Amino acid sequence: MSKPKVLVTRRWPAPVEARLQELFDVTLDEADQPLGPQQLQEALRSYDCVMPTVTDPLPAEVLQVEPLRTKILGNFGVGYNHIDVESAKALGLTVTNTPDVLTDCTADIAMTLMLMVARRAGEGERQVRAGQWSGWRPTHLLGTKVVGKTLGLIGFGRIARAMAKKAHHGFDMPVIFYDPYPPADDLCQALGASRRGSVEEVLQQADFVALHCPGSKENRHLINAERLALMKPGAYLINTARGDVVDNEALIQALKNKAIAGAGLDVYEGEPRLNPSFLELENAVLLPHLGSATEETRIAMGMRVIENVTAFFAGQTPRDKVV
Ligand code: DGY
Repeated sequence: MSKPKVLVTRRWPAPVEARLQELFDVTLDEADQPLGPQQLQEALRSYDCVMPTVTDPLPAEVLQVEPLRTKILGNFGVGYNHIDVESAKALGLTVTNTPDVLTDCTADIAMTLMLMVARRAGEGERQVRAGQWSGWRPTHLLGTKVVGKTLGLIGFGRIARAMAKKAHHGFDMPVIFYDPYPPADDLCQALGASRRGSVEEVLQQADFVALHCPGSKENRHLINAERLALMKPGAYLINTARGDVVDNEALIQALKNKAIAGAGLDVYEGEPRLNPSFLELENAVLLPHLGSATEETRIAMGMRVIENVTAFFAGQTPRDKVV
């Protein structure tokens, strides 16, 4: 039987590409450049499987090609808001993602951002690199103590729970969260987490608010000017979810006006072309979407895509079937 014809849209870690070459008639992306809509449409006409990632927008207009050869989109990443899954489903396409394997590393980046912004680590590093550090002094770059502060989580899925575990057990932080589908009470207790009835309550009570809700039409600008205004003036916002969960313009205003103390961001509206005003804000820590960026995790993500697609072509239901 001939091997399925597969297109990978970006460079993947070498061990995963090697495995792909063993299993599939695969086209790899040597150039490692995001594909445009026409190239994606060409791929949908020519390959049995496309393996896209977060940099490949696949809205309904792109998915609707004729003839559609692709049967499965094996997405590299847990988030799939770049794919119109309803249209994919209507076209008979299967879509899979890569949960679990990136949970800890993404939670680590949320912790990194929380610590960096609270302790002004980005500002300090900029000073040292610019040769502007004049030496130790009692009032130099005073930040905010993290231990014992309240962590507020918007969304309480896998990554939020991993962050809660690290924050509660490592930093003695009481955890509060809002999630419309909360887990069982014993799990919350083990993480020192207590539920709040609304996003607003979390924003009002937390010292650090970390966003862990999916990117979606419904969650677009969930954190807007009105909601930012509910946060304590000394509080910090951490976003490792998706850029458009936050109204970036409103956040920039809140940071400029010191309506909140700071923000730690890994994701942006329109990334990688983030709003240039962010670059002028000393109270923002800015990372380039590094959530899952470890050798171990990126290999595990690729292997998980392979597992899903292999199961699909063997006539089984892939473990991470989204639709
Ligand atoms: C995901 O998996 O959705 C991340 O944002 C990319 O690591």
